[in-house]
Amino acid sequence: MKIGILGTGMVGRAIASKLVELGHEVCMGSRAAGNESALAWAAQAGEGASEGVFADAAGFGEVVFNCTAGLGSLDALAAAGEANLAGKVLIDVANPLDFSQGMPPSLSVCNTDSLGEKIQRAIPAARVVKALNTVNCEVMVEPARVPGEHVVFVCGNDSEAKDEVTRLLGEFGWPAERVLDLGDVTAARGTEMYLPLWVNIMGQLGTPHFNIEVAREVDSVDRQGA
Ligand SMILES: NC(=O)c1ccc[n+]([C@@H]2O[C@H](COP(=O)([O-])OP(=O)(O)OC[C@H]3O[C@@H](n4cnc5c(N)ncnc54)[C@H](OP(=O)(O)O)[C@@H]3O)[C@@H](O)[C@H]2O)c1
Repeated sequence: MKIGILGTGMVGRAIASKLVELGHEVCMGSRAAGNESALAWAAQAGEGASEGVFADAAGFGEVVFNCTAGLGSLDALAAAGEANLAGKVLIDVANPLDFSQGMPPSLSVCNTDSLGEKIQRAIPAARVVKALNTVNCEVMVEPARVPGEHVVFVCGNDSEAKDEVTRLLGEFGWPAERVLDLGDVTAARGTEMYLPLWVNIMGQLGTPHFNIEVAREVDSVDRQGA
């Protein structure tokens, strides 16, 4: 597949490298062509890797990942261009973290809205799926480094887009039964509002390599049959 990655930070590089390793062609986008981080990534990732501005990456991809800083995501997507994203699955990995007052960060949007929803409203023709924003980037692309039946969440308004993302997550190593569909894009509020807790857990554990495992009661049919 041809995949566009918007973002040159650790998330963009981790996802882009994994995709190239899996045999996909990847174009990484940034605000200015010749971005140092993107050039270094493309040089080490080798065949199948290229870089350009946000619009180049968005136009290149059949599927596009938003891996930009949450406060800059709407600007980055505007630069990517609505026409380049129309009809495409746009996987939004970003969190609306505001570090302007230092640590811990606050959320620039929450409760009654979310970055995922803002992105879907800004680019109605894109098929936005919020995913992967609740795990560290190394866990995103290698879930087995954390033991257990931990999960990754997806939400969005387009069921087929979520199926497509679930297949892609399978390539990353997430079995379908550990991809938890939370419903439409408004569920992005919950996954984004998990971030303050994520930051506290990381502070206590001293590692970003952890994740949520969802345990549940056996369903009533099973209990009646037992
Ligand atoms: N770190 C993790 O493990 C992790 C896990 C889950 C989710 N996330 C989320 O993933 C996203 C990426 O995180 P990151 O640490 O890899 O990178 P980051 O430093 O948060 O973002 C870097 C990217 O954002 C772009 N950017 C920054 N400000 C911008 C603006 N005003 N307008 C347009 N573009 C702008 C940069 O463009 P240039 O390339 O032009 O500089 C760069 O490509 C964030 O939203 C983060 O919250 C991170």
